[in-house]
Amino acid sequence: MSTGLRLALAKGRLYDDAVARLAAAGITVGDPGRRLLIPTSDAGLDLLVVKPGDVPVYVESGAADLGVTGTDVLREADADVLEPLALPFGACRLAVAAPSETSYPNLPDGRTPRIASKYPRLAREYFASLGRSVDVIEVGGSVEVAPLLGLSDWIVDLVDTGNTLRANGLTERATILESTAVLVANRASQKLKLEQHLRLMGMLGG
Ligand code: PRP
Repeated sequence: MSTGLRLALAKGRLYDDAVARLAAAGITVGDPGRRLLIPTSDAGLDLLVVKPGDVPVYVESGAADLGVTGTDVLREADADVLEPLALPFGACRLAVAAPSETSYPNLPDGRTPRIASKYPRLAREYFASLGRSVDVIEVGGSVEVAPLLGLSDWIVDLVDTGNTLRANGLTERATILESTAVLVANRASQKLKLEQHLRLMGMLGG
């Protein structure tokens, strides 16, 4: 492990907010372009850009010291990382949605519902907690189209403004999890570099 910190971020909804927090604390980050390791104006901090679902994996392994992710992604990954700080951005919810004409929570013929999701673990856990049997179909994106094409009856996906659901004729039926951005930290790194961790927490949370 180097003495500096490596912060894992995912391109997408949380990236701009996290970089804006760093900018407010006086740290500038250049346009990443196609680079995946991005230096910052602070010699003790660089950024690692990965897929959203991979942030907990990089942090758990120590390849990154810290990361910014959503509680949705973190619970799905079930990674062994510290969660030192909830961040004041990235609020959204993980919800069950279905086409307006599809019944919920039971299908009329008693058929086992098929659910498409990027969150198979959380979807299974939720319906298991209700004692309901479902078939979960894992997809990587564009989940909202699955019921329209007959791939699934319902979906479990993130809802922010609700625009994507509305645009695809889906309505929300239940909330599974309220999600927010969270700072996650590698256990060993936090022990070894506590001062640097606290400084970064001050910058991102302030
Ligand atoms: C998320 C989610 C929905 C959409 C919800 O996808 O999977 O599709 O945002 O946002 P809304 O309620 O404001 O419409 P994201 O944009 O993160 O991209 P992805 O589908 O590639 O994962």
